[in-house]
Amino acid sequence: MNAVLGVGGGIAAYKAAELARVLMRQGFTVNTVLTRSACEFITPLTFAALTGRKTITDLFANRSAEEVLASSVEHIQVARENSVLVVAPATADLLAKFAHGLADDFLSTLYLAFTGPVVLAPAMNTNMWFHPATVANVAALRARGHRIAGPDAGDLACGTVGEGRLAEIETIAAVVAAAALNRNDLSGEVVLISAGPTQEPLDPVRYITNRSSGKMGYALAEAAAARGARVILVSGPVHIPPPPGVEVVPVRTALEMRDAIMGRLEESTIIIKSAAVADYHVANVPAQKIKKTAARMSLDLDPTPDILAEAGARKGDRLLIGFAAETRDMVSEAKRKLQMKKADMVVGNFVNVAGTGFESDWNEVTLVMSTGETAPLARASKREIAHSIFDHALRLRLALHASQ
Ligand code: CTP
Repeated sequence: MNAVLGVGGGIAAYKAAELARVLMRQGFTVNTVLTRSACEFITPLTFAALTGRKTITDLFANRSAEEVLASSVEHIQVARENSVLVVAPATADLLAKFAHGLADDFLSTLYLAFTGPVVLAPAMNTNMWFHPATVANVAALRARGHRIAGPDAGDLACGTVGEGRLAEIETIAAVVAAAALNRNDLSGEVVLISAGPTQEPLDPVRYITNRSSGKMGYALAEAAAARGARVILVSGPVHIPPPPGVEVVPVRTALEMRDAIMGRLEESTIIIKSAAVADYHVANVPAQKIKKTAARMSLDLDPTPDILAEAGARKGDRLLIGFAAETRDMVSEAKRKLQMKKADMVVGNFVNVAGTGFESDWNEVTLVMSTGETAPLARASKREIAHSIFDHALRLRLALHASQ
């Protein structure tokens, strides 16, 4: 599949080189178009060397009259030959040009001629991003069906901190992949996802937790948003940034997670419980720090509520997906949890295999479904696994409705 990568003239232009690499790794043939000002930040040669293809720089710059005549329809040809257009960084100037249909260079002309899906990854100073002109331009582009990836909040090149940083390259690439496949199959869905570990306090300074990084749940949130869903992400404490366009509800304990999930259950259509919830907690946390003594100590722990089972009892015709983190008997344990908690699908994974599961960017899972079907998914990135889970979930819902 061919993607055309438009690069605008901003300090984040250097990151577009990494985007080209990630898109190629995903199987795209990448054609690059640099605006004249992008060439001030990064050279066309960088992209030509990375992609093995010529980089288009501008309509008329540095060309003889013959070359200009020969290439006068090049933007039409590029528009026709590529299945997705991604612009990163999309500067305030480019957003304005696209919103108003100005066509005074190759990239803006290509944009007008392009009929496929468009992904825009803005990057600029916070004040520019929040200027009413930019806000209106972004709203117009969104209304046209374009996908806006980011921007993220963080340290900006101009020395300030705020919204305006180019979204993570992997995030932009995931949106491009979904757009290229023209997947909007979760539009109209409200996907409620729990992710990460919980922290159960023992006293004011100590807590029990687990090794969950939240990566699988965050990848599911990102995939759902890329496919058009409204996403509510109930997240335990993690160290990764939330995907853009997702509503995050931060929680700490199993009880807080239960309240957040149950409070938002009614408005959801798909619920995914990927969080690694603590099974036990200290019911009455002491107000003062536990002091050291010479004697052996033991902890009195009470069970936490099983959120997946509670959701199973109240789910109605919502699709409910749980996870099973196992160190042995993965498929039979996943089946047992599916039945016990009344889920429609359980994603079983081994958490003791090196290079997958907790903390890893990779996973290898088996989907166990209430229809009796099981689907092993080969080792892949958590992003790819997330998309496969949604592919199977949508098919499962059709099968469940058909059998009613
Ligand atoms: N889960 C939950 N609430 C809990 C414990 C687990 O909602 N208090 C959910 C998890 O989010 C996951 C599923 O139940 O979707 C299975 O979690 P897992 O830890 O694999 O299983 P447990 O039911 O806790 O059983 P065990 O720890 O004995 O394997």
